[in-house]
Amino acid sequence: MINLQPTDKIHDEERQGEALVVDAPLVRNGRKLYIESYGCQMNFADSEIVASILLDQGFETTGDYKEADVVFINTCSIRENAEQRVRNRLSQFGVEKRRNPNLIVGVLGCMAERLKSKFLEEEKLVDVVVGPDAYRELPQLLAEVESGHKAINVLLSREETYADISPVRLNGNGITAFISIMRGCDNMCSFCVVPFTRGRERSRDPFSILVEAQDLFEKGYKEVTLLGQNVDSYKWKGNDAGEDAAIEVNFAQLLEKVALVSPDLRVRFSTSHPKDITDEVLYTIAKYDNICNYIHLPVQSGSSRILELMNRTYTREWYINRIDAIRNIIPDCAISSDIIAGFCTETEEEHQETLSMMDYVKYDFAFTFSYSERPGTLAARKFADDIPEPVKKRRLAEILLKQQQTSLFRLQHFVGKTVRILVEGTSKKSDKDLCGRNDQNAMVVFPATAGVEAGQYVNVHIDRCTSATLLGTIVN
Ligand code: SAH
Ligand code: SF4
Ligand code: F3S
Repeated sequence: MINLQPTDKIHDEERQGEALVVDAPLVRNGRKLYIESYGCQMNFADSEIVASILLDQGFETTGDYKEADVVFINTCSIRENAEQRVRNRLSQFGVEKRRNPNLIVGVLGCMAERLKSKFLEEEKLVDVVVGPDAYRELPQLLAEVESGHKAINVLLSREETYADISPVRLNGNGITAFISIMRGCDNMCSFCVVPFTRGRERSRDPFSILVEAQDLFEKGYKEVTLLGQNVDSYKWKGNDAGEDAAIEVNFAQLLEKVALVSPDLRVRFSTSHPKDITDEVLYTIAKYDNICNYIHLPVQSGSSRILELMNRTYTREWYINRIDAIRNIIPDCAISSDIIAGFCTETEEEHQETLSMMDYVKYDFAFTFSYSERPGTLAARKFADDIPEPVKKRRLAEILLKQQQTSLFRLQHFVGKTVRILVEGTSKKSDKDLCGRNDQNAMVVFPATAGVEAGQYVNVHIDRCTSATLLGTIVN
């Protein structure tokens, strides 16, 4: 069986339940924190902020919730099944809580924000519920729990970006890291819960972003990914440090500033929105070798009528125009997508339009989902979720099959060529192999060679491929 989804961690909206651990803090309070994260990469980045705040309080992290004093679960609401997984996990924590009544269980992130105090009513074992903009309050909230009360803070903010909190890097490979450049989303796509769980869009101070990138590079990191729900609408207004004049920084300018940190620091970013991605961004990518030729540009549907119902604010033609611009300005750019099968009222012809869009773009990879109605969203209020489950499943299977074919088509292009890759570590399948990604974000696996280690750039000749991975050998 060929792996349909790439082993890419940037957009994997439903990464599941990874426990995150770091070294001990400088001053200990003798207590241990276990934190498990679900959902998109922004949630994982937030867990690093949370760990940083609690490490400052003297907590140590642990990878075993059975030895923890505080268990946090950082949750995702994007689809029904994402929430179900969290509930199943909570019932496992409940078993532990009955054994150890002093254990504090906290729910963080998007489900906390969506369900608010209902969570405390529904899940009796939960002690504390904290939304994504309230993590600075965690020490006070934990103190409240210790004094015998349940605690909750789900206030959303128009300003919070945690710009001054240096995230502790949890379970990283020491080579690639994520940097949050903005929070929230103002787009209101009709299917999407994110604007409700993450609040209004705000951009982070570019100087703090540059300090973080520089600091990572000095610590040996070789790749940063700039994260936001809609990076193209990044906009910061303020004063340059030490200067009086007001300045404005847009995403293309931010990208350039980060690229200039060092030519040896690769820069990636995610997610781009088809309505906002500008030629200025494309020219900036083309100008700098270290900005990777890879754009995640979710289409969602190939039908203009469905796109309108989705409130995506672009048409099929507009999207195709953006794809053509990418191909013209950055000829070897990889493009990936998110696609939803079976949105409200989608006809068979409209589904075919999604497939023909996939034929046109020939995505390098795509994340594909069956539409899942989310309470409170525009679509839930306005449209019936009227495509029967078996039809959604069949359409999704057709989309997956098409993507499997185009992924293979794209990867086959690299066979026989030599690509430059950043070594990330040993391959998951065999410690005799190393792995890393090329500029276009394709995973490359090759036999380990003496003297070659994580963090180095090497040239690899591609001998063959599967639909998810390139296989090759190091060349000088
Ligand atoms: N900000 C990003 C996407 C964030 S959510 C963007 O605008 O593209 C990641 C993906 O989850 C979305 O692109 C969409 O394809 C999918 N998704 C979001 N809500 C969904 C829902 N209700 N049902 C199915 N898939 C959904
Ligand atoms: Fe959701 Fe749309 Fe915002 Fe993406 S752009 S997070 S899909 S509302
Ligand atoms: Fe999920 Fe929230 Fe991210 S809903 S996809 S964790 S922003």
